[in-house]
Amino acid sequence: MIKIVKPTLDNIIDIQRVLKPYVEEGIILNRDEDEIAMNIRSYQLVFDDKQPIAVGALHIYSPFLGEIRSLAVNEKYQGQGIGKKLVNSLLEEAKSLKLKEVLVLTYKKEFFEKLGFNEIQKEEIPEKKIWADCIKCKFFPNCNEIALITYL
Ligand SMILES: CC(C)(COP(=O)(O)OP(=O)(O)OC[C@H]1O[C@@H](n2cnc3c(N)ncnc32)[C@H](O)[C@@H]1OP(=O)(O)O)[C@@H](O)C(=O)NCCC(=O)NCCS
Repeated sequence: MIKIVKPTLDNIIDIQRVLKPYVEEGIILNRDEDEIAMNIRSYQLVFDDKQPIAVGALHIYSPFLGEIRSLAVNEKYQGQGIGKKLVNSLLEEAKSLKLKEVLVLTYKKEFFEKLGFNEIQKEEIPEKKIWADCIKCKFFPNCNEIALITYL
C-alpha cells in the first residue's frame, strides 16, 4: 500500500536512498545528513509498504514564499501518479501554513505545468535561494533549470 508520511530523523537514510541516483546525475542538489536533519520537518516521504519510493520537501523562504525541492520518485514507480500526489500533498501543506506562492526550479517543466505551475523569469527567483542553494550546485551560474511558480 502506498502512503505519504512526515518522516522522522530515523528516515534520513531513506530520504538519501531515494535521492541518490538523481544526486549522482546532478539533477538534485546533494544535502548532507545534518542539512536534512535541520530541515526534516519540510519533507514528505512516500512508502510502498516498508519501502521508501519517493520524497519531496517544502522549504519556506518568507511568510509568502515556499519552494518545492528534492522531489524524486524511484524510477520503477514513475508514471503512476505518485509524483503528482506528492506535489499536491506538499501544496496542501503550503496552503495550511498560509503560504501564498510556491516556487520550483526544475528540468521537468511539463510535469509542473500539469500541476498548475507557470514559468517565471530567472530574475524573479529570490536572492536567498541563489545564495543558499544555487551557489552549491556544480552547474552554477550556467544553469538550465526552469523556474516555475504557483499561487495558492
Ligand atoms: C518528475 C517526477 C517527480 C515525476 O513523478 P512521476 O510519479 O513519474 O509523475 P506522475 O506519474 O505523477 O505524472 C503526473 C503527470 O505528469 C506527467 N509527467 C510526468 N513526468 C513528466 C515529464 N518528465 N515530462 C512531461 N510530463 C510528465 C505524466 O504524464 C502525468 O500526466 P497526466 O496527469 O496527464 O497523466 C519523476 O519523474 C522523477 O522523480 N524524476 C527524477 C527526479 C526529478 O527530475 N525531479 C524533479 C526535480 S524538481
